[in-house]
Amino acid sequence: PSTRTYDFVVEERVGAPDGVLKHMLVVNGQYPGPTIEANTGDRIVVNVTNKMPNSTAIHWHGLFQRGTNYYDGTAAITQCGIPPGESMVYNFTFDGWVGSTWWHAHAGTQYTDGITGALIVHAKNESVPAYDGDLAIQMADLYHGFSPALLNLYHTPGGLEGTPGNEPVPDGGTINGVGQYGSTNTTFFNLTLAPNKMYRLRLINTGSFVAMDFSVDGHVLTVIEADGTAVEPVEVGSVSVAVAQRYSVLLRTNGTAGAYWMRAALDQDAFTYDNPGVQTEIRGVLRYGVDDDALPDAFLLDNPPSLPDGSPGELDTDDLIPVGGGPAPNATFSVYFTISMQYTGGPNYLSQFLSFINSTSWQPLQGTSSLFAHLGNNTADGSATLADSQLVTTVDEPHVVEFIIDNLDDGDHPFHLHGHKFWIVGSGAGRYQHQALDNKAPMLRDTLVIPAYTWTILRFVADNPGFWAFHCHIQWHMAAGLLFQLNVLPSESAKFDIPQYMLDQCAREGNMM
Ligand code: C2O
Repeated sequence: PSTRTYDFVVEERVGAPDGVLKHMLVVNGQYPGPTIEANTGDRIVVNVTNKMPNSTAIHWHGLFQRGTNYYDGTAAITQCGIPPGESMVYNFTFDGWVGSTWWHAHAGTQYTDGITGALIVHAKNESVPAYDGDLAIQMADLYHGFSPALLNLYHTPGGLEGTPGNEPVPDGGTINGVGQYGSTNTTFFNLTLAPNKMYRLRLINTGSFVAMDFSVDGHVLTVIEADGTAVEPVEVGSVSVAVAQRYSVLLRTNGTAGAYWMRAALDQDAFTYDNPGVQTEIRGVLRYGVDDDALPDAFLLDNPPSLPDGSPGELDTDDLIPVGGGPAPNATFSVYFTISMQYTGGPNYLSQFLSFINSTSWQPLQGTSSLFAHLGNNTADGSATLADSQLVTTVDEPHVVEFIIDNLDDGDHPFHLHGHKFWIVGSGAGRYQHQALDNKAPMLRDTLVIPAYTWTILRFVADNPGFWAFHCHIQWHMAAGLLFQLNVLPSESAKFDIPQYMLDQCAREGNMM
């Protein structure tokens, strides 16, 4: 194993990913930010310097952070935000995690404005078929507005098409930082591959709200990994990737030499109002067997967008079976909760449209974090007493925890659990009524969509000490409070040796918008 060191400088910039100038927050002047690529067992050291006027934190999505919960990078939960002008060093290993994931800001809605990047972990013994080349495809919805302003409108009566709780509809999207808007933009993300090879494309939805449906004209894709879990190969025509999910697909460059469109279609079902200018399909170019310069982008490709009759269609997540999978263990600790969202009225704008887990709507602590408060470090104004905005379930000893979730809301919610992967042991329409579960070889992943008006049951082994967030990854929903926390093995986390300067930063953190 080796140690890989990165310097991340986070700052405000003006950028134009789809040709329209916009206010962005980026790492090292890049969107997407630097890709971290490593082997399992490696140590990663990232020195993050915050040059923004607001505090920030960087989260390593999906990693277990066993014994290093305080480097999970979740502002107000595992650390205080890194204050403006200050730095923080994240230092952790992959402890058995293998596959495709990403990193992003986890403070307010900052990642919506650009603080994202790919995180790829290789292992010799990964249970996937062989391939010749390996590429990350980061897809994201894109907003021309700045996220704090959009969030404000989201909460405010009359803000977005008259109703609080209408999620901002994106203006378009990007593939690896490049999008199109309107008919004039002919800039595309370009991928030049060798013919007659097998490529692994790691699809990552780094967006804030909508699922992206990925396809390559004329090519069948073979799904081999989801959220770091190797799966039995499934042939598909396209893959819908929800916010924060990842899939690896194999693509064989054995078609006619030429150029083909890659397409990332925004899931318009999620749109709550009409945004007349929206670019609903983002494209990239994938070519092989031809000279790069021989095909100017403007003359591209006239391939039929769909595969011939009888070809496989969109991935059905029910077809995902982990390689070597088997039944999930029986639950020894059960938590029931409901998901709902509603307009509440109230004096401050944050209290107008809120998301609820049971009856709690999360608001980030200021001047401390859940973990630090647990360690007795209630700094600043002692605001760790904001208890009614914190829903924390404590697991005192190792357990197989079961979440039984009723989504009472009319929206789909891509939920993510920090620090663990969970087995999806059941789901169905309506409310949960003790239906039988199909626990033969449930899928194991870290982010799943809980559709509107359905129930879901998840299980995972809770033996990883610390505070772990479970939340909807739609940035508007998380900001409206759709988050709850597990406090696992508190007597173990009480022994964490947290660098003193991290605790000291709490007094200076400022806000996270
Ligand atoms: Cu991708 Cu709470 O994180």
